[in-house]
Amino acid sequence: MNKFSLKIFTLILAFVMFTGYTHADEGMWLPMLVKRLNEADMKANGLRLTAEEIYSGNNSSLKDAIFGLGYGDPSWNFCTSEAISSKGLLLTNHHCAFDMIQNHSSVKNDYLTDGFWAKNMSEELPNEGITASVLVKMEDITKRVKKALDGLSLDDQAVKLEEVKAEIIAEHTKGTHYKGYIKDFFYGNEYYLFISEVFLDVRLVGAPPSSIGKFGGDTDNWMWPRHTGDFSLLRIYAGKDGKPAPYSVDNVPLKPKHSLPVSMKGVQEGDFSMVFGFPGSTQRFKTSYGLDVDYAVTNPARIKLREKRLSLMKEQMDIDAKTRIAYASKYAGISNYYKYFIGQNAGLKRLKTIDKKRVEEKEYQVWADGSKNEAYSTALSRLDKAYSSSVDYSLWSVYLQEAFFGSEILQFGASFIQLQRTLAAGVNEENQAQVDAMIEKLKTSSKEHFEEYSATVDKNVTGALLGMFYTDIDKQYHPDILARIAGENGGDFNKYANVIFENSAFATEEKTMKFLENPNPEVLEKDPVMQFISSVLGVYYAKIRPQSSVANEEVAAAMKDYVAGLLIKNKKKTYYPDANSSLRLSYGNVEDYSPKDGVQYQYFTTLEGVAEKYVPNDGEFDAPKALLEMQMSKEYGKYADKDGTLHVGFITNNDITGGNSGSPVINGNGELIGLAFDGNWEAMTGDLVYDEQYKRCINVDIRYVLFCIDKLAGAAHLIDEMNLVRAKKGK
Ligand code: ARG
Repeated sequence: MNKFSLKIFTLILAFVMFTGYTHADEGMWLPMLVKRLNEADMKANGLRLTAEEIYSGNNSSLKDAIFGLGYGDPSWNFCTSEAISSKGLLLTNHHCAFDMIQNHSSVKNDYLTDGFWAKNMSEELPNEGITASVLVKMEDITKRVKKALDGLSLDDQAVKLEEVKAEIIAEHTKGTHYKGYIKDFFYGNEYYLFISEVFLDVRLVGAPPSSIGKFGGDTDNWMWPRHTGDFSLLRIYAGKDGKPAPYSVDNVPLKPKHSLPVSMKGVQEGDFSMVFGFPGSTQRFKTSYGLDVDYAVTNPARIKLREKRLSLMKEQMDIDAKTRIAYASKYAGISNYYKYFIGQNAGLKRLKTIDKKRVEEKEYQVWADGSKNEAYSTALSRLDKAYSSSVDYSLWSVYLQEAFFGSEILQFGASFIQLQRTLAAGVNEENQAQVDAMIEKLKTSSKEHFEEYSATVDKNVTGALLGMFYTDIDKQYHPDILARIAGENGGDFNKYANVIFENSAFATEEKTMKFLENPNPEVLEKDPVMQFISSVLGVYYAKIRPQSSVANEEVAAAMKDYVAGLLIKNKKKTYYPDANSSLRLSYGNVEDYSPKDGVQYQYFTTLEGVAEKYVPNDGEFDAPKALLEMQMSKEYGKYADKDGTLHVGFITNNDITGGNSGSPVINGNGELIGLAFDGNWEAMTGDLVYDEQYKRCINVDIRYVLFCIDKLAGAAHLIDEMNLVRAKKGK
């Protein structure tokens, strides 16, 4: 480097440091702010669209092709999907549609194992309760909310906030069929309004066999290099007027305002990529005080409890095909986050995340002390105090979620509490209709509960988890009933589980339905499940909730001040808010990485790797014969890369998290190049901190998706619906 360039270099470095430059890849940006915050940077990175073409409140734009998958409420989505045809065809992940596929499966029609492909629209399968929602527009309402809250006490603020929110939503949705919701950002320092259109008829169109859609199973989950064809197809139907309508045979495929063209061009290292979707939640502002509790207390507890539950489930799933199908989705869900917490803790240690946070916090404190603002300067010590005073309650809450409610019979029983209370208070003319409705609802949910249920699994799990609660949690926080049970059963909670399953009305569908035919509060009162739950609630209301809610409020208030301070301290830095299931855009590039010293991972994988990993009849690494034959003959047709292989997956440095699953990966022209489905092992701390060196987004190459649809499923008619963009000759 000569002197001159060194000077320029120092200048650039100083500028970068001074402006608190955020690396292009980091950040989950709000679509309406892209113009102001990101457009220039994105263009420099390879984007050829305008911000208006990505998000527009008036004209059709990219955002109109992005649909959140949920259960009716557009403010929370379990996954993302995107329109890829003018007939409402939606692409999402296999693991996002897993539950739907399972619901349509039986031992005879095992779509999980064999895949499912509707031959025509009339064969597409409705999924009750599943909705797809699209963002109509969003608005910053921070000023109005703050004005309304100005000068009020904390208690009054909480009440007023709800009032203002309802008022704003009503104003913006009046006379429309849209749904509105408001979310707070930066820990209550900003508020945004979202208006969505929620479609109610979403059908399953196609899914590959699990040996493609879940290839690699839990062993490969959260890992690169990856060879999973994690995709499925759905379709949105609407009423004849194009508006959302509940399922009906008369509904017609939705014509979305925008659908994504599909690129056949493939990706190169360094290519621009953006991911558009609904990331669920991140905690990037979490302090070392909170992370200490996660690392040392709650994560290890979650890992331990899930490990037990999984092994007991697997034991029965391996013996019995019906149990295997019934528990497929539950098992995948529990094991997904089991591995997540293991990876997160390993990452926290390896990347010294907590130490790095401490350094940042020290710097913050110096600034805050100089700010002469008490809220800012006391924020960290308040967080320290609130977290350390609530460790016991945090652990208890984990055991409540993962141990007590890891028992399905206890969780199921808990859904009868409201009925129990209502019956006990007395049924009269006035509330008879309400009670009847409650009973009808419980009948439906009971039916669903027992459809995917094995009492053997649950009995084993219940006994084991209650025993773990008994030994791991400080006696002063035990529900009274535990000591009695331990006494009566010589400390053997499996024995007690037998008692529950012999005597409870909730042990079998028959008994539950019989109870619901003639619901009697005295029966519930004597039921061992309800007795157990009532004892748990007793200690919860007396000892846990009062303390933990004080601590939670303290954390929330201190976080609001800490983040407000941080935003002022680093004024020049462009912050993005934590993920909260609102629509976000992340942009970056196709990029390889080195997982550890001496090892370099390529940015793409091919079908060769499927053959390498293939283990005949294995639960995780089996692969369809037809696929392996095509790998042998290398006949990939138009889906082949120009290197002649079939690319299966690729990685980018896009910033994503759970909820982004199923999100489109889009090139600089706005065309679909892949489908995001996972994060990588080396960056499992990604929800807490973005690590530029390691954080990658794992995607299925869109050409592999098309190949599977065309060559394996024989569903070329679906490809015909799409708008394929081919490479220009010579390119
Ligand atoms: N890790 C993926 C995610 O959280 C889910 C993958 C599901 N696959 C599985 N083997 N459990 O989005």
